[in-house]
Amino acid sequence: MSGGHSTYTPKTGVGRWMDARLPLPRLVYDSFVAYPVPRNLNYAYTFGGILSLMLAVQIVTGIVLAMHYAANTGVAFTSVEQIMRDVNSGWLLRYMHANGASFFFIAVYIHIMRGLYYGSYKAPREMLWILGCVIYLLMMATAFMGYVLPWGQMSFWGATVITGFFTAIPVVGDWIQQLLLGGFAVDNPTLNRFFSLHYLLPFMIAGVVVLHVWALHVTGQTNPTGIEVKQKTDTVAFTPYATIKDALAMVVFLLVFAYFIFYIPNFLGHPDNYTEANALVTPAHIVPEWYFLPFYAILRAITFNIGPIDSKLGGVLAMFGAIAVLFVVPWLDTSKVRSAVYRPWYKLFFWLFVIDSVFLGWLGSRPAEGLYVALAQGATLYYFAFFIIIMPVLGLIETPRRLPNSITEAVLEKNKAGANAAAQTTQG
Ligand code: HEM
Repeated sequence: MSGGHSTYTPKTGVGRWMDARLPLPRLVYDSFVAYPVPRNLNYAYTFGGILSLMLAVQIVTGIVLAMHYAANTGVAFTSVEQIMRDVNSGWLLRYMHANGASFFFIAVYIHIMRGLYYGSYKAPREMLWILGCVIYLLMMATAFMGYVLPWGQMSFWGATVITGFFTAIPVVGDWIQQLLLGGFAVDNPTLNRFFSLHYLLPFMIAGVVVLHVWALHVTGQTNPTGIEVKQKTDTVAFTPYATIKDALAMVVFLLVFAYFIFYIPNFLGHPDNYTEANALVTPAHIVPEWYFLPFYAILRAITFNIGPIDSKLGGVLAMFGAIAVLFVVPWLDTSKVRSAVYRPWYKLFFWLFVIDSVFLGWLGSRPAEGLYVALAQGATLYYFAFFIIIMPVLGLIETPRRLPNSITEAVLEKNKAGANAAAQTTQG
C-alpha cells in the first residue's frame, strides 16, 4: 500500500526471516509508520481513521449479538429483549451496536463533507472517491436491513414502505420486490434473508475499505490547501504525527459515543420499535432512522407527474438520483483550484448545501403535508442544483484567491501571521 521506496530494515532474525517470506511488517511499516503525510492536515482528516474504528466496533458487537439473536418472526423481538435483560452485558452490546450505526453515519457524513469542501474527489483521486461512494451505498443497505432485525413496529413498517418503492420501477419492479421479500409481504423469509445479508455486507464493506485505503496510498492524501506535495518539507511521517492526532480524535469521538450509550441510549431510536411488529396496526407516522431522512424528504417531495413518469416513480428516481449524483462529482466540478479555502463563492454555496441537507433531514421527519412539501421541493431543487448547475458553472466563472506556492509556504505564512498577531497583542 505504500506509494514510494521502502525504508524498512528488519532488526531481528525473526524479522529478517519473515521479510524474506511474507513481508507483512514491511507493508505495515511503509503504510502506517514511515508513510509521508502532508504536514498541515487538520482534524477533518481524522474521520477516515474514526470510520475504520467504528467499522471494527460494529463487526465485533454484531458478531456477539448474532450469537444470541434468533432470526425468526415468532421469537426475534423476544430474543432482543432477552439480550437486553439476560445476556451478560447484552444491554451494552446492543446499545453499542444500535448507537454505533448512528455514529458511523455521523462520521461518514463529516468525511464526505470534508471531501466536498477540500475537493478531495478531483483528479487523480476519482477512484478513491468512487470507492467511498460504494462503501456509503453498502452502509445504507446494511443499516436498513439491520433495523428490521429487532422486529419492532418501525422495523416491519419501514421494511414494508422501502421495499414497496421498488414496485414503482416499470416491468421488473414487482419481481425485485418479491425477490427482496422472499414472498408477497414482509414476513419470515424477509427476516431470514435480511439477517443473512446484514451479516455479510459489513465484510464486503471491509473489503472495499482495503481498496479505498490502497487507492489513498497510491495518490497520497490531499490537504487543506489543495496543493500537491512538492518537496520533503511538505510532509511529516505518519507515525507519530498522524497517529497521535487520529488517536486524540478517536478518544473525543468515543467519549461522545459513550455519553449516548450510557446516558441517552434511546435518544436516536424510535419508541414504536419497542412494540412488537404487527401487520394489522399501522403506526401514525412511518419514519426511517435519522440518517436516511434527507433522502426520505427528497422521495416525498415529488408529488407531481413529470411527463410519462408518475409521481411515485419520480420520487424513487429522485431519491436514488440524490445518491447516484455523488458518483459523478469528480466530473461535475470544473474548477482548476481544488480547495474551498481559495474559492470564496464555492465556500458560500458549500455551506448552503450543508444547511440544505440538514434542513432536508428535518423535513423528512415531518409529515408530508402542506408547507412541508413545498419546503422539501425547494430544498430538493437546491440539492440537485448544487451538483448539476453550481459545481460546473462556478468552476468556470469564479476568480479564486491567490494560492501559495507550496504547503510549506502556506504553513509558514500562517505561522508568521499568527506570530505577528501575538506580538501585537503583547505590545498592546
Ligand atoms: C467505512 C467507511 C470509510 C472508511 C473506513 C474510510 C477510510 C478512509 C481513510 C482511513 C482515509 C484517510 C484519512 C482521511 O482522509 O480521513 C480516507 C480518505 C478519503 N475518503 Fe474515506 N472512508 C470511508 C468512507 C468514505 C466515503 C463514503 C467517501 C465518499 C463518498 C470517502 C471518500 C474519501 C476520500 C475522497 C478520501 C481522500 C481524502 C483526501 O485525501 O483529501 N470515504 N478514507
